[in-house]
Amino acid sequence: MGQTLRAKIAGTGSYVPEKVLTNKELESMVDTTDEWITTRTGIRERRIAVSESSTDMAVHAAERALKSAGVSAADIELVVVGTVTPEMTFPSTACFVQSRLGIKSGVPAFDLSAACSGFLYALDVAEKYIVSGIVKRALVIGVDRFSEIIDWTDRSTCVLFGDGAGAVVLSGTKGKSGIMASNIHSDGRKWDMLYAPGKGRCPFGKENAKKDSDKTESAKKESAEKETPPYLAMSGNETFKVAVRTMVASIKEALKAAKVSADDVKLLIPHQANQRIIEATRQRLKLPKERLFMNLDKYGNTSAGSIPIALDEAYRQGRIKRGDIILFVAFGGGLTWSSAALRW
Ligand code: ACO
Repeated sequence: MGQTLRAKIAGTGSYVPEKVLTNKELESMVDTTDEWITTRTGIRERRIAVSESSTDMAVHAAERALKSAGVSAADIELVVVGTVTPEMTFPSTACFVQSRLGIKSGVPAFDLSAACSGFLYALDVAEKYIVSGIVKRALVIGVDRFSEIIDWTDRSTCVLFGDGAGAVVLSGTKGKSGIMASNIHSDGRKWDMLYAPGKGRCPFGKENAKKDSDKTESAKKESAEKETPPYLAMSGNETFKVAVRTMVASIKEALKAAKVSADDVKLLIPHQANQRIIEATRQRLKLPKERLFMNLDKYGNTSAGSIPIALDEAYRQGRIKRGDIILFVAFGGGLTWSSAALRW
């Protein structure tokens, strides 16, 4: 009887921009303190992509993942990028990555929108292509440049996020290593807990609308109120509670499907949103502290970049050994949530 085909992580890579923005620097931008940010979130600094675009960050991370897997761009048969801050509205950032890395023409490349769950959604999709035998090797990337969708005058959101990218090479294998179980979930009814309307909506309507100078004062006020700011908006408290609940449920689902228990987990690599959300999740799973990986103090919440950046760091720090059971979990706008259990 043939062995089951699995998708295993053959290489990891990440990239964060050069520019560091510390909590201290944020003190001069908005009414906040280093102490507030550190105690409420665990974040000390974040990286800002001043000159790097989403494609630049994705390409750097992917190059490192290819190197770590010991494969070349010519070996890649699928590119999936989780992002909500793509290079352009179209083409996809995945197509830009394909071109920049010299991945063969004809190889499918597409983006996936699931906010902070973007990388795990992309991993889940790529895994299905691999285990069904359609492709042998996939490049899976999570990248976000939230600095472009943040209102830098809003202290309740601007202190939380940073920019960055992470990538993995996923390969088909008949060995024991690989993804044992993964799940993806959404609830669109709760979209307004966390969203970013984006810019440039309905330019036709705007150009054809009555000119501002022709309007009465009250009409001006009314249209200003109607204008939706393009930036990220969030109900912090509500998000916090739902995040813990859904992440714990998603992890339990993955553990059950993988036929392992929380005790078997060597390392939990969660989406790096907030230290208190991560701690609450860890406690509900009764996982010891040393089995949790956190690096949000250095990068803040990098959305889809968060898990693959953390994975890359954990791996390079020697925190992951062959045979270890690793758990990923994420939560994000949509709402979306997702988890994956794998044997390294
Ligand atoms: N500095 C100083 N004070 C602040 C700041 C700030 N940066 N931000 C808010 N405050 C104030 C508030 O105005 C409020 O003041 P008030 O009591 O006078 O009204 C007070 O601090 C408490 O505010 P809360 O919102 O209740 O603070 P809380 O302890 O809930 O922490 C936080 C806020 C950090 C946002 C928390 O709710 C959280 O982390 N939520 C989850 C957010 C998250 O992870 N989102 C990302 C999800 S993933 C994705 O898809 C993007």
